[in-house]
Amino acid sequence: MNDIQILVVDYGSQYTLVIGRTLRELRVRSIILPPNKVDGWLKNNSPKAVILSGSNWSVHNEGAPGLPKTLDVVGKKYLILGICYGMQLLSHKNGGKVERPLDHREYGPATVTLDTTHPLFSGVPKNTQVWASHGDTVTKLPKGFNSIATSGGIAAMSDKNNRVLGIQFHPEVVDTKEGKKILQNFLDMADCKKDWNPSNLIHAIQKEVLDTVGGNEKVILGVSGGVDSTTLAAVLAPVLGKRLICVAIDTGGLRKDEIIELKNNTKSTGVKNLAVISAGDEFIKNIGKTIDGEEKRAKFRTVYKRIFEEQIKKAGAKFIIQGTLATDIIESGKIGESAMIKTHHNVGLNWKVEDLHPFRNLFKYEVRELARTLKLPRTVWERNPFPGPGLFLRIVGTPVSKEKLDLVREADKTVNDILKKHNITKDISQLIVALLGVNSVGVKGDERVYGHSLAIRAVQTVDFMTAKGFYFPEAVMEEITNTLTKHKGIVRVFFDMTPKPPATTEFE
Ligand code: XMP
Repeated sequence: MNDIQILVVDYGSQYTLVIGRTLRELRVRSIILPPNKVDGWLKNNSPKAVILSGSNWSVHNEGAPGLPKTLDVVGKKYLILGICYGMQLLSHKNGGKVERPLDHREYGPATVTLDTTHPLFSGVPKNTQVWASHGDTVTKLPKGFNSIATSGGIAAMSDKNNRVLGIQFHPEVVDTKEGKKILQNFLDMADCKKDWNPSNLIHAIQKEVLDTVGGNEKVILGVSGGVDSTTLAAVLAPVLGKRLICVAIDTGGLRKDEIIELKNNTKSTGVKNLAVISAGDEFIKNIGKTIDGEEKRAKFRTVYKRIFEEQIKKAGAKFIIQGTLATDIIESGKIGESAMIKTHHNVGLNWKVEDLHPFRNLFKYEVRELARTLKLPRTVWERNPFPGPGLFLRIVGTPVSKEKLDLVREADKTVNDILKKHNITKDISQLIVALLGVNSVGVKGDERVYGHSLAIRAVQTVDFMTAKGFYFPEAVMEEITNTLTKHKGIVRVFFDMTPKPPATTEFE
């Protein structure tokens, strides 16, 4: 499968995800990683270019994120482009000067004058409108660098070999009129190929799987009804036919009516064999009184694996295929030196048969595009993600029980219905309704009650590597709170706005 051509180092700018999206619109594959994941990733990958994003940090702040240790900052191995903070960082680390001049702070539209003889600005009008958002500015260039754009101060820089570049404004934002052209120039300078073509990707995945499994063997695919496994089933059904056996587990931690949705979604893929295994009691019994998030995940994995091993044996399958994404692998600490954040239920399991992860290099938005290309129903490619361990991860700080699972399941449905009614579902990437192990005192009908607390968390993100809390309109917050507290066991409702990082999307 084609390699990732661009690495985007995310220093936390609100525009980083827009860089990724713009690159995809320009049909080039990229990966976005926080600085601490870069060294591990670079060990096994060779990008053609690296983009350093903007940030809220100043390079002078204590604790400001720096350049990854193994990054080739002289541009020998790959082209480098620093955007805003990225440019300041390159400049600062190479002996230039970054200051906060009172007369050169830009927030919003600005006009720049470009050196259009430089390949980065080739074909762009000399004076053009850009979007800038910075307090700090490069006031003195590092040795060997030239200014290639000005807007009162230095607006862009390049080293003599045109390998290390910096732009103070944001080419990824639509308000930068020629931003896409500038990024296209950068891709051309790095000799990037237009390789993001969903149909080609589908064929490449089909070929890779067929080459591995051969013409006769049976293959087990775990399906959850979610976009990843459903899309993978749709990619493989035409080439594997009856040899593809889909297995779904009703873990007891699914959302309301999810099994029906799962069956409908899997049916839409053309899959011939689907087995649904009901195992709620086994999961609840094994997880027992466990509260610790990682321990809970470990126990969930054990049961999950046992059931799949049984199904593999029953079917006489020689392979298990899963819809694991790049993000799952990164967060499970399975690449390079990435820290383990949480053990995903289906990553790194030691199967008795060979396991394949054909989506291992893809991100959620890429899989959604494959689903659209395959003409799967809208309900599939628009579906919000839901973790394999499901509602088990949404009972936090208190032991799981069937009653508590039922309570969060109902609450999740209630909040989802309210969001649908207000047409908000489309604005959020994932909704989490969790039961917290915090009982507290309330008053209902003039009587003291002592009951549960729920946390409501909605996030916006493109790839779940970073996420922002979503601010509900006041009326919606009130409706959610009032409706949920009608339940006799629920006393308090908290809204969680913490971004990722430092929080993760799920509570556990
Ligand atoms: P976090 O909480 O790590 O979640 O920010 C990122 C995305 O991954 C989902 N998630 C999982 N998905 N198995 C899955 O299939 C898991 O074990 C798992 N843990 C988290 C999470 O819901 C979010 O969409």
